[in-house]
Amino acid sequence: MTLPVIAIDGTAASGKGTIAKALARHFHFDHLDTGALYRAVAALVLRDGGDPSSRHDALDACKLFRPGIVPDTELRSAAVGEAASQVAVLPEVRSALREMQVHFALVPPGGKGAVLDGRDIGTVIAPHAPVKIFVTAGVEERARRRWREVHAADPAKTYEAILGELRIRDARDSERAAAPMKAAADAALLDTTDLSIDAAVAAALKLARGKLEA
Ligand code: CDP
Repeated sequence: MTLPVIAIDGTAASGKGTIAKALARHFHFDHLDTGALYRAVAALVLRDGGDPSSRHDALDACKLFRPGIVPDTELRSAAVGEAASQVAVLPEVRSALREMQVHFALVPPGGKGAVLDGRDIGTVIAPHAPVKIFVTAGVEERARRRWREVHAADPAKTYEAILGELRIRDARDSERAAAPMKAAADAALLDTTDLSIDAAVAAALKLARGKLEA
């Protein structure tokens, strides 16, 4: 029996992670944050003093990678996010991380269904997913959200710096040759610029219900 898969792709700070978690909770599906895999590889490169754009350093890190090997606090740093988008350009890194994502989508641990969020879930990892949602928001609004998230821990980080970083990351993610960030042809687009998180979750839930209960 094929289990249902919900593919959530989109830009940084669009709300895709929160939406993915909420949908997983609602449907009692398992959730995989695929960005965390790229972040873990990047963190291992940085720990070793390596260069995240080096194929050699990134592949060494892929060999060390195990789920849970990098603590969450380290994964979530801005430096690791930036390095993740550099390792994610490399096709060899993408293929090293591919199988575990495909396996999670096909055989989720809870046996009911899977929600995966990332950049290429609807296009590459789970192209047959019955539910595909591409989440985005205007870059200024996303920069405001990131600034609010990091301000307390890093008061020196300005809104302008975050805006610049997001623009670079968007361009790198969407212009790379290997599995670029893009909406699948059959994905529903969800623009969260003017939506509260509750409203964004409600909209995603409506889209998912419409497809899963059709
Ligand atoms: O939360 P945020 O969007 O800042 O980052 P993330 O989702 O944790 O992803 C970090 C980086 O990993 C992204 O900028 C992408 O370059 C890369 N990534 C990817 O290429 N493919 C995925 N399926 C997930 C993440």
